[in-house]
Amino acid sequence: MAKLFFLISGEYESLSFSELKAILEAEGFAYSITEKLDQTVRLEAAIESIKQVYRRSGYTRICGLELFTCDATDEAITKTANNTNFKEVLAEGETFEVRIRRIKEYTTKEATMHHERLMGKLILQNTPHAKVNLRKPDKSFYGILTNNKFIFGLKLAEIIPKPFVERRARKKPFFHPSAMNAKLARCMVNLAHAHEGTYVLDPFCGTGSTAIEATLIGARAIAMDVQRRMADGAKRNLKHFGLTAEAIVIADARKLPFSKVDCVVTDPPYGRSATTLKSNTKAIVEGVLTSAYELLSQGQRICIASPKTLGIKQVGKKLGYRHIESHFAYVHRTLTREVAVFEKE
Ligand SMILES: C[S@@+](CC[C@H](N)C(=O)[O-])C[C@H]1O[C@@H](n2cnc3c(N)ncnc32)[C@H](O)[C@@H]1O
Repeated sequence: MAKLFFLISGEYESLSFSELKAILEAEGFAYSITEKLDQTVRLEAAIESIKQVYRRSGYTRICGLELFTCDATDEAITKTANNTNFKEVLAEGETFEVRIRRIKEYTTKEATMHHERLMGKLILQNTPHAKVNLRKPDKSFYGILTNNKFIFGLKLAEIIPKPFVERRARKKPFFHPSAMNAKLARCMVNLAHAHEGTYVLDPFCGTGSTAIEATLIGARAIAMDVQRRMADGAKRNLKHFGLTAEAIVIADARKLPFSKVDCVVTDPPYGRSATTLKSNTKAIVEGVLTSAYELLSQGQRICIASPKTLGIKQVGKKLGYRHIESHFAYVHRTLTREVAVFEKE
């Protein structure tokens, strides 16, 4: 097991933290959390797990190999850095850069530059043949200043947001105001423990956001909607990204026409921009949770969004599911979404 650190999004922090753990679990990596700090997770896991986090995560920014953590004072940093064997990660003649990220109000912008210079100096002192190269370095060191601590290590992966921006609802050829943003859809796919080859069902597929994100991680998406125009739209959106779902079905989610899937990821209609077809969200949620129960095996998951006011935790528990976790995402003044994860017992 290696000591790893991850910089996660500050947008929805509890979702980001759970997403990271869910990816490790879905990919079968054992891990142990060392510390959860603001926007930073320190944990021990196999170094190969970083590849999967990089490939799958919606809310992780940086993945790194930790070299040390200490108090964020010059004295502590100098002492700890001088006890660190940088030669283990920086071969003779290799070039490097140091980047520091400060979280929230823990420190000032000037302090960030000060720490970059300080760490650059300390690395050069400890590895005399190394050279700084800020344009195309062989190695990138990364430090995080958070909760009065300094986490420092080698950056192994940086997840750039551009592909998610390219898949924003407004950029897709078929748009509907009820569409979920790509990062949240990806996160929900991860929370449901989907992985390569598994069958992921979205019974309220709308514009196909979850089907797209599930397909992109190598799962087989089954997209379903009661409205033909939405099912056609989802198909068009998938095609736009060069993707194909395993199936696109027009049917009512309260009577699922399948016998088995590996997980369910979905966002039912709230009766605002998405129609509940003369029913109401609670009845629809009860209907789909009841119907989905039959399709899942013990330990398999459903990740479902709903308005916070619905109280989905109790609904799911009443229907026999084990409630794993809930996250709350503010959307606007009258809507906070609850993203709940349930497991079949
Ligand atoms: C909130 S939207 C889903 C948005 C979707 N996650 C996306 O990103 O585009 C809910 C969808 O459920 C569909 N719907 C409503 N009642 C349904 C039912 N009983 N069975 C299946 N789909 C239904 C609506 O047509 C709508 O497309």
